[in-house]
Amino acid sequence: MSQRTRFALKTAVWEACLLPLALLVYRFQTDALGANPIEYVTRTLGDWTLRILLASLSMTPLRLLFGISWPMSLRRLLGLFAFFYVCLHFSVWIVVDHFFDWEQLIADVFKRPYITVGVLALTLLVPLAATSTTRMVKWLGGATWRRLHKLVYVAAVLGVLHYVWLAKKGVVDPFIYAGVLGVLLGIRLWDWARRLATRRWHHAETESVIRRLLADGG
Ligand code: HEM
Repeated sequence: MSQRTRFALKTAVWEACLLPLALLVYRFQTDALGANPIEYVTRTLGDWTLRILLASLSMTPLRLLFGISWPMSLRRLLGLFAFFYVCLHFSVWIVVDHFFDWEQLIADVFKRPYITVGVLALTLLVPLAATSTTRMVKWLGGATWRRLHKLVYVAAVLGVLHYVWLAKKGVVDPFIYAGVLGVLLGIRLWDWARRLATRRWHHAETESVIRRLLADGG
């Protein structure tokens, strides 16, 4: 892919990811946040955290299924935007919803399971955002970095669980997100099993060649 195309793609991602925030700001300025503005803002930011997180997790499956590799260059940017949105989501909860009432905030984390898993998901995303730079990849080493960044799957599962737990009965959206995440994780699992089977097959093949050579030599 040319430098120009890469730049255009990244610009499009920046625009697409900032658009929901711009819309929120616009609704705020035009007094169009509905009857419960805090709930509207919290929920919108939560929705976009999950959508962007799932988008970042779709890049590798796209490569595995269709052999296209350009989406891989957008993974880091999408991951950082998901982190940006969850920070805003969390900040609204602390600042606007509870107005820094630390006692109540801590009580909420222990009392409400959906808050507990939300905080856990956010906590897991912190080291991933902190190690997203090329310098950190070099410092940690590729293998360690990749192992650490597998935590994004745990964070996504917790994020979906957070939504499933907080949603009212009869709301189907959280289950749609759960389905999408299930498919994305399923594709990874299928690829892992396929690679393991290929590796085992090669191993068995090498072993049989060695055995044949030894038998011929003897
Ligand atoms: C990766 C982490 C997280 C994800 C993916 C996420 C996602 C979501 C989603 C999708 C919603 C529901 C939106 C809707 O109803 O349309 C939501 C609501 C909410 N989230 Fe999160 N969230 C995360 C972390 C957190 C954290 C750390 C907190 C605070 C400690 C939090 C507090 C809330 C609250 C208070 C609501 C609204 C509940 C309600 O109105 O009944 N979330 N979140």
